[in-house]
Amino acid sequence: MNFADSDVLSAILSPRYEPTSDYKQADLILVNTCSIRDHAEQRVLNRLREFTALKKRRSGLYVGVVGCMAERMKDELLEEALQIDLVVGPDAYRQIPVLLDQLSTGGGKGMDVNLSTEETYHDIVPLRATENKVSAFVSIMRGCQNFCAYCVVPYTRGAERSRPFDSIIDEARALFEQGYREVTLLGQNVNSYHYQDVGFARLMASVAEIDPRLRVRFATSHPKDLSDELLATMAAYPNICRAIHLPVQSGSDTMLKRMNRKYTRDHYLQRVAAIRAALPDVSLSTDLIAGFCGETEAEHQDTLSLMREVEFDSAFMFKYSDRPGTFAHRHYQDDISEEVKTARLNEIIALQTELSLKCNQKYVGRTMEVLVEGLSEKRGKQYIGRNTQNKVVLFEPTGAEIKPGTYVQVNVKRCSAVTLLGDLV
Ligand code: 5AD
Ligand code: SF4
Repeated sequence: MNFADSDVLSAILSPRYEPTSDYKQADLILVNTCSIRDHAEQRVLNRLREFTALKKRRSGLYVGVVGCMAERMKDELLEEALQIDLVVGPDAYRQIPVLLDQLSTGGGKGMDVNLSTEETYHDIVPLRATENKVSAFVSIMRGCQNFCAYCVVPYTRGAERSRPFDSIIDEARALFEQGYREVTLLGQNVNSYHYQDVGFARLMASVAEIDPRLRVRFATSHPKDLSDELLATMAAYPNICRAIHLPVQSGSDTMLKRMNRKYTRDHYLQRVAAIRAALPDVSLSTDLIAGFCGETEAEHQDTLSLMREVEFDSAFMFKYSDRPGTFAHRHYQDDISEEVKTARLNEIIALQTELSLKCNQKYVGRTMEVLVEGLSEKRGKQYIGRNTQNKVVLFEPTGAEIKPGTYVQVNVKRCSAVTLLGDLV
């Protein structure tokens, strides 16, 4: 989401500012921040100290904090030591040029952390900074009002709102015409996309109909809202990718209740069964939190047993991090020790590594379509691409150059827990 937002920011700042690859040359540094865990915020604060040091050497350099930390910390960020000039929340990016004018005419530091119930930046064409011209994010909604007990997002990104249907289709079509071959529709809870009479399944179908050569992905789904209608739509369009990211967070009913996730383990498993019935070759990924407030060893074991039952292809796995302002912060105790959190997270990671390897082994010997993203320098000049299940596939160059954005057939010979390795067919 922040990658997508940074491209919106670039568009808002253009042509007054243009991107540079060397921040030491910059006249303006905006740090687009995440508040989801304390670790993310600490990293930003370290970067800001670095930029403060740079400001001492470069007069005229402005430094701003944008995104969720700006929203959460507000004027705390304007304290002298950090020397920040601008603090702008996720819904106020259109104000940045005004605040910059104010700064340059001696009007002082600028802050706008107003949240909106309407802003979707739908009319702003993101200035995409990514080097990969194959795959792009397209934001379809903003905000979240699920209020999971541990999560700061509803407070920093405000109420849920959907971007107008036509503006999404126009952006996706323009990307296809520019040569992009994959779009990922983005939102905190895409299943509740709703604009006039268009829901998420119809939106997906419409994007898929732009061209059969355009792959369509989406993130993130909430297990309480993943509909059969969406699964039927996915099954009907081969270019809607066979990959679903479905964060479960915990395998324990009592934990899910404390987390305010609004589904049970059984409901989650039923959704997984429905997904696999509709899309037999789907890959499933998830998010997991270790050591949320009050988590017992038995509840932790329920998470491990759910992981074994589902056999996730991959997972993002986190230690619980207490976030000021959340329901958990106000009403529960962050009572699991750092040692226990670490031990549980390590067990979860070890099990997931096993499961990922097992899932990937199923692809060995199979030939599949891969969308080529380019030549990977890091991997000793191998081509890198992805299959429909979103798995990274590597293969050796043979003869003629393959342009990024080309579909090829690859026969998988080997795998690790994170990549498939094969030969061009
Ligand atoms: N602590 C740890 N992980 C968190 N997430 C959200 N809030 C927290 C928190 N306070 C995780 C969830 C979510 C992912 C984006 O981040 O797993 O799905
Ligand atoms: Fe946070 Fe829950 Fe919303 Fe996801 S659905 S952004 S975890 S509140």
